[in-house]
Amino acid sequence: MRSYMVAGNWKQNLGPAEAAKLARQVSMGLLGLDLKGEVLVCPTYVAIPAVAEIIKGKKTLLGAQNCSATGAGAHTGEIGVDMLAEAGCTHVIVAHSERRADSGETDDDFVNKINQVHAAGLTAIFCFGELLDERKAGRERDVVKAQLEGVLPRLASATPQNLVLAYEPVWAIGTGETASPEQAQDIHAVSRELVSGMIGAEAAAAVRILYGGSVKPSNAEDLFGRADIDGGLIGGASLKAEDFLGIVKCAQAVS
Ligand code: PGA
Repeated sequence: MRSYMVAGNWKQNLGPAEAAKLARQVSMGLLGLDLKGEVLVCPTYVAIPAVAEIIKGKKTLLGAQNCSATGAGAHTGEIGVDMLAEAGCTHVIVAHSERRADSGETDDDFVNKINQVHAAGLTAIFCFGELLDERKAGRERDVVKAQLEGVLPRLASATPQNLVLAYEPVWAIGTGETASPEQAQDIHAVSRELVSGMIGAEAAAAVRILYGGSVKPSNAEDLFGRADIDGGLIGGASLKAEDFLGIVKCAQAVS
């Protein structure tokens, strides 16, 4: 039985002071809940220490939005997974569509990053999903297949415990347009089937597949209630404690 994950991706928002404030509101809001899944926040790098301080000993988990693809050394501007672990992170988002688009990251980068994450004992959240043009052309299944095939079979030590998948149709990210629960469930089911051929049926049944793209308190319960949707990766709505906590409550309600 898979438990849910609700992860907040704060993107390039909130410096240390604002991030600490939001983290405090989130962890206070979780206090009275008997959590049936995992709740995670992913601040910017510079806000990680401030958030780590706030959530120490609390139910909220801490993740990074990115990491270096290599170990320590002469890589100006990079942040390694060991450093993230030392700072209190247990999770790292890899292959977000904004990194695919803005930084031109490739399958090779994702494989290296996820292997780094796993070697450091952390959990990777691997994002995949099609562009609007690809969906309009009816190519979403092919795109998702290629993205999963380009990375998953090449991972050195992925397990359902250290790998979480996140289907994020790019046309639904930050646009207010959400994939319908039927559209999302369809791709989640297809993805799980594909993943089964890559990491085995048992692992595929156990791995969590999150949905991301304009999730809000008003649509989260319907999405999370679908058979293959195991929670969400939340952007805009994770920046307001009330909305984020509302989404967590939706996950609780269907668990
Ligand atoms: P959104 O972002 O919830 O603002 O659409 C989701 C994401 O990019 O992870």
